[in-house]
Amino acid sequence: MTKYLVTGGAGFIGSNIVAELLHQNQTVRVLDNFSTGRAINLANVLADIELIEGDLRDLDTCRRAVAGVDYVLHQAAIPSVPRSVDNPLATNDVAVKGTLNMLIAARDADVKRFVYASSSSVYGDSPQLPKQESMALLPKSPYAVAKLSGEYYTRIFANVYGLETVCLRYFNVFGPRQDPASPYSAVIPLFIKSLLAGQSPTIYGDGRQSRDFTYVSNNVEANLLATTAPNVSGQVFNIACGNRFSLLDLVNTLNDIIGTRIKPTFNMARSADVKHSMADIRLAQDCLGYQVKVNFKEGLTKTIAWYKEEHD
Ligand code: UD1
Repeated sequence: MTKYLVTGGAGFIGSNIVAELLHQNQTVRVLDNFSTGRAINLANVLADIELIEGDLRDLDTCRRAVAGVDYVLHQAAIPSVPRSVDNPLATNDVAVKGTLNMLIAARDADVKRFVYASSSSVYGDSPQLPKQESMALLPKSPYAVAKLSGEYYTRIFANVYGLETVCLRYFNVFGPRQDPASPYSAVIPLFIKSLLAGQSPTIYGDGRQSRDFTYVSNNVEANLLATTAPNVSGQVFNIACGNRFSLLDLVNTLNDIIGTRIKPTFNMARSADVKHSMADIRLAQDCLGYQVKVNFKEGLTKTIAWYKEEHD
């Protein structure tokens, strides 16, 4: 039987991966220290998974987590660009030391393939759109630098040690289980929460900044494809929809779906914020067989339905 380790499996993206793996009757182990991951995300599946509560900054814990595992889906990180601006050491420790520990453990345990969740933030404000994997990278936040370091380590482990690795550069992911309660939460859960409560969402800046907002099931699918696609070791792939929407578009679309007409409030732009982001996804399509299954509006509709149900 095939065994998967999902690091950060109690987090937003990780727990969505766990759910799909279980749906496909796979064997799943989760490593999480519940720093940003939430127990509630695994509450329905605790009987079906093996859970290691531990920290990937500890190499012995990583070794325990990879023992007997076929594929590692390394999602664990401390998310949020502004959080990394406030506390760069914590972001760096988990993304860089944690990833290096996981790679060493995976190499020594003869894992078949190691999939690393990277971030579109590595492109920074490079002028060219859409972003292609071969472009020069201009990270502009501690988060982006840390994610890029993890990416370089992951690629180096393919080249130097022959560990099969794949990096997936996620573009602004959203969907069920994304935490709306932290000051560092991502924009979509924050805006949905505000509108459902009849409150005005706060836009930082003029709202014309744009993102390639991607529904989480697309990322889940990309992870599974990345474990088995042939001849991709050492490569990096954008995972997104290949479209971009501004925050003004986002507020309008959310208002349309929810049936409200609440205007946003404007505040100062965040430091280290990227202006525009949009992916070229052709490499993932060609090499991984990746396809966008759920688009922006359909994803928002599903996500709003989920938050409404949660609220009830
Ligand atoms: C960045 C990365 C993304 C990564 C994520 C991890 C880029 C382009 N994207 O997302 O790949 O997964 O970090 O945390 O670098 N905003 C508001 N009001 C709010 C909250 C946010 O206007 O209440 C704005 C932000 O200023 C930003 C946009 O919404 O312009 C998106 O912010 P957020 O959801 O936090 O994600 P990014 O920082 O873009």
